[in-house]
Amino acid sequence: MTADGKVTTRTLAPVDFTSREDKLHLFRQRALADAVLLGHTSLKRDNVRLGIPSDLQQARINRKKPPAPLRVIISNKGRIASRLNIFQSRISPILIFSTKRMPKKTQAALKTKATLHLTKSGEIDLAAMLEALRSKYNVRRLACEGGPTLFRALLERGFVDQLNLTIAPYMFGGGKAPTLTGLSKEFLPASVHCSLVDMRTIGDECFLSYRIRHPRRRRN
Ligand SMILES: NC(=O)c1ccc[n+]([C@@H]2O[C@H](COP(=O)([O-])OP(=O)(O)OC[C@H]3O[C@@H](n4cnc5c(N)ncnc54)[C@H](OP(=O)(O)O)[C@@H]3O)[C@@H](O)[C@H]2O)c1
Repeated sequence: MTADGKVTTRTLAPVDFTSREDKLHLFRQRALADAVLLGHTSLKRDNVRLGIPSDLQQARINRKKPPAPLRVIISNKGRIASRLNIFQSRISPILIFSTKRMPKKTQAALKTKATLHLTKSGEIDLAAMLEALRSKYNVRRLACEGGPTLFRALLERGFVDQLNLTIAPYMFGGGKAPTLTGLSKEFLPASVHCSLVDMRTIGDECFLSYRIRHPRRRRN
């Protein structure tokens, strides 16, 4: 994010405001995960493949892992275009968590490119999705790469354990440019307390790693 907390501009245009080092940092974090998760708007806007470079693929193979993490897309409406770049790359399986609202034509187009998990309810149950990733796909570490709407939803449910944050040396300003937790004017249900576990500076960027402190859950 920028020094004033923005992760994109108000038009949600793909903006590239971090360094090559930050992109490598992202790839390294992605390579540590069993699966990588992205919200549909970010997928549409940034048109990313969610792959990793060949040296990181080899390192995973040496660790007896598949070459790249599973790629997971989440969308309630399911209007996902099959021509997006992610579907042109075969680096790892793609899972789509969506609902029966996905148009039949889209289902037919995506079926050959991804595994569809479509629920009857109009909205995805995040807990059920995480449970399916764990039990059906053996996912233990899931790297969510945004966007802010999805991140906030996960945060509200207490489903985030770690936040990797790069502060880039820019300021965008503006009330309509989403922050890390999106555009919502609502407070989070409770403030989220973090512990700083790592901080590095490289050039003009600051790389931070926070552990999210979950309030102790009651036993009954
Ligand atoms: N700077 C960064 O590091 C960074 C990282 C990521 C993204 N971004 C930027 O963030 C912007 C997009 O962010 P955004 O907040 O608008 O969108 P987002 O979180 O990427 O995606 C929102 C969409 O994902 C689906 N979704 C999200 N949460 C869901 C949930 N709990 N259940 C079911 N579906 C869910 C819905 O798709 P449907 O509408 O299809 O139902 C929803 O409309 C882009 O401009 C992107 O470039 C920046």
